[in-house]
Amino acid sequence: MKLLEDKIKNEGRVIGTEVLKVDNFLNHQVDPALMAAMGEEFARLFENDNIDKVLTVESSGIAPAVFTALALHVPMVFARKKKSLTLVDDNYTADVYSFTKQETNHIIVDKRFISAGERILLIDDFLANGQAVEGMLQIADAAGAEVVGVGIVIEKTFQKGRAILDEKGIRVESLARIAAFEDGQVIFVN
Ligand code: G4P
Repeated sequence: MKLLEDKIKNEGRVIGTEVLKVDNFLNHQVDPALMAAMGEEFARLFENDNIDKVLTVESSGIAPAVFTALALHVPMVFARKKKSLTLVDDNYTADVYSFTKQETNHIIVDKRFISAGERILLIDDFLANGQAVEGMLQIADAAGAEVVGVGIVIEKTFQKGRAILDEKGIRVESLARIAAFEDGQVIFVN
């Protein structure tokens, strides 16, 4: 998606060889016009897939997910993160290890908000090691829902997330695909 790639080129900051900071339009300050355009694009990509619900993980997945849900005319649910867990009975849960932050988050979805047979589209801001998506897959699986596909804002193709999802046969659509970071510059997949 050219609009997003231009935004990354103009406003993203490369940290070392693995991390892209995009906190001025996605991870902290949010550009609503860009989010709306991304939501339209995800909706276009999955328009024939009879999506019932969009699922993401707080916090940075929420903005793209809500605009996608708006464009698809379906609800959006975000998994909440908690460090510890007391009541599990009415929730689906999964552990998500963050390589970037080096911590494990417990992600939680209330059983009322995801149901057996629902067709789910997963949305997230980054696909890196794939842990967040794996956690959402576990939750959808526990609920008996069907994950129709995954929409990613920024995919780092050099990390293992894409390979994990390809192996599971899951459709992944990424709006920007990054091949590498070289000398502080972003190299996109052609
Ligand atoms: P994953 O996203 O594929 O699960 O991989 P990883 O474990 O590496 O990611 C952990 C967290 O770091 C996730 O956010 C993910 O979105 C974020 N992340 C991964 N790579 C980058 C990057 O290059 N730049 C930025 N800015 N973030 C990256 P999170 O812990 O869920 O945080 P948040 O959604 O609350 O912001």
